[in-house]
Amino acid sequence: MHGKVLLIPGSAEITNQKISMKNITVVGAGTMGNGIAHVFALKGFRVHLIDASEAALEKAMQTIEKNLQRQVSKGIINEVEKQETLQRIFTFFNIAEGVQQADLVIEAATENSEIKKSIFKQLDENAHPDCILATNTSSISITQLANVTNRPNKVIGMHFMNPVPVMKLVEVINGKETSEATTNTIVELTKLLDKIPCVVKDAPGFIANRILMPMINEAIHAFAEGISDAATIDQIMKLGMAHPMGPLQLADYIGLDVCKNILDIMNTGFNNEKYAPCPLLVNMVAQGKLGVKTGEGFYKY
Ligand code: 3HC
Repeated sequence: MHGKVLLIPGSAEITNQKISMKNITVVGAGTMGNGIAHVFALKGFRVHLIDASEAALEKAMQTIEKNLQRQVSKGIINEVEKQETLQRIFTFFNIAEGVQQADLVIEAATENSEIKKSIFKQLDENAHPDCILATNTSSISITQLANVTNRPNKVIGMHFMNPVPVMKLVEVINGKETSEATTNTIVELTKLLDKIPCVVKDAPGFIANRILMPMINEAIHAFAEGISDAATIDQIMKLGMAHPMGPLQLADYIGLDVCKNILDIMNTGFNNEKYAPCPLLVNMVAQGKLGVKTGEGFYKY
């Protein structure tokens, strides 16, 4: 896996001397999956995007095109680069077909431990033995996912942030048995995407969500207690802490169901009630008020 400079037809040169990957498979075509497909394809990788739903794949390709167009409008890329990027993305309905030739698979499916374990079993059975299996999970144990495979040394967390084409961070999470070679490959690959890898150990919520979610949860508690309205709470954190979005707006953007799910995982994982989701958050999720994606959360969209 060392020393090659790759040139994929019609693509940018993949110039990092330390890795020689060219085929990336992304499982799950939702917000994170299509963002991950976007950034790899833009950097010249051939991307296989897998989802069981035809509608999800269609929507993902439309979203990628729309987000590439934003980059064209800003002068970050040109129209030819946009078209070439789209041509490097191939869609698949099933894992067995989509992982053929993959050097790296990034799983970005539903945040459910049993679903992810089932996917990892299938990935392990179908992908080349040298293929690294990464997960974009926001809080599920990497070690547990690795344990359902026969290659725990090649399983790693690669946690991208939303919106993927914009955010610089990739939280790289080592499972108990992740090898140094696997970590080094993922660190170099992340740099190749013009993103910054931050390596952490496997623990509930890792670092990003362990710190972000209690802040969001506390903002919801303050709102529920009527200490202030949503816009003021958000304004305080934007003006006072230079956050680009306030915590309630960010919760709507991430998805209230996703926030609740991560808090539940930390609550159970640490066996510590301090992570328990605020009752208001639980109620809003039960009512289907999930934020931007359903048109209503702390704000209306
Ligand atoms: N694709 C491509 N480009 C995009 C984009 C997308 N999906 N979304 C926004 N952009 C670009 C815009 O074109 C614009 O480009 P420019 O700087 O060259 O003009 C830039 O990003 C800023 O976008 P906008 O002008 O539309 O709007 P804002 O200035 O309000 O920025 C934002 C939007 C980047 C989302 C900003 O509000 C932000 O950084 N918010 C915080 C996001 C955040 O915290 N993400 C982490 C969430 S937690 C997470 O993902 C972990 C998970 O496990 C829960």
